[in-house]
Amino acid sequence: MLDQAERLRELARTSRRRGRVVAVTSGKGGVGKTNLAVNLAVASAAAGRRVTLLDVDLGLANVDILMNLSPRYTLAHVLSGGRSLAEIVTPGPGGVRVVPGASGVPGLADLDQAGREGLLHELGELEESTDLLVLDTGAGISRNVMAFAAAADEVVVVTTPEPTSVLDAFATIKVLSREDALGRIRLVVNQCATRAEADAVSRRVAGACRQFLGLGVDRMGYIMTDYHVGEAVRMRRPLVLAYPDAPASRCIRTLAGLLAGAPSTPRPAGFFRRVVDRLASEARR
Ligand SMILES: Nc1ncnc2c1ncn2[C@@H]1O[C@H](COP(=O)(O)OP(=O)(O)O)[C@@H](O)[C@H]1O
Ligand SMILES: [Mg+2]
Repeated sequence: MLDQAERLRELARTSRRRGRVVAVTSGKGGVGKTNLAVNLAVASAAAGRRVTLLDVDLGLANVDILMNLSPRYTLAHVLSGGRSLAEIVTPGPGGVRVVPGASGVPGLADLDQAGREGLLHELGELEESTDLLVLDTGAGISRNVMAFAAAADEVVVVTTPEPTSVLDAFATIKVLSREDALGRIRLVVNQCATRAEADAVSRRVAGACRQFLGLGVDRMGYIMTDYHVGEAVRMRRPLVLAYPDAPASRCIRTLAGLLAGAPSTPRPAGFFRRVVDRLASEARR
């Protein structure tokens, strides 16, 4: 007889279509991850895709601030067992569904078996009812960031042209490169003055990844430094809705268009199962 976990694993193996999972991450903090995640999500929804944005940045959960949401419940309530995922999913601007974040995602690994299976089941449904799942992760090489990034189909690594940010991006990619079954790594250079500057930075990072890690990194694109970004943050409205014609909005729409392109290597369903299995196995060590 199959136990419950085995049945769920079987379900994960045989489940139908699922959305693509894109994790937005960086080495250094404050480089523009949350702005990119929010606006990629909104721009993709505007292009007609079903988009869910999940805030898994521990401690610095900022998605609700940028989208002017005041969610009553967050992931923390789900992890403590008080609420179901369906109860916390919040409609956000531009038709994006938002899963509000909170500190406490390490609790995923600490949930008891029944709680974990229940949550995984719900997350699996979320995966199937969405075309694009965008994750705003924290910066740096914490085990949560790595668990989410390593299981995603695509990891968008954000850097600015500053040397600290560039070196930290490389360090993050280096740690990621040790993962098996890693998804595609895509580099975005944010806050650049000119396109030439962005090109030089991404060429350098991609070159270093090829030379020292033997890893191909996709030079996805760039976002100009644009005062409209700060204005939109102050208004708590997504940039691409508040200032659709701003230079940074144009750049972000181009990036969203690239995400809509040919899918990367298809991976099996069960994104969240991979994340949780990994966190649980680390917690046992
Ligand atoms: N392209 C840009 N042009 C101007 N300012 C930007 C740009 N991208 C980000 N910023 C500024 O940087 C701040 C940090 O961005 P945020 O997305 O919160 O970074 P992270 O999530 O990586 O910590 C934003 O509040 C915004 O003011
Ligand atoms: Mg952030």
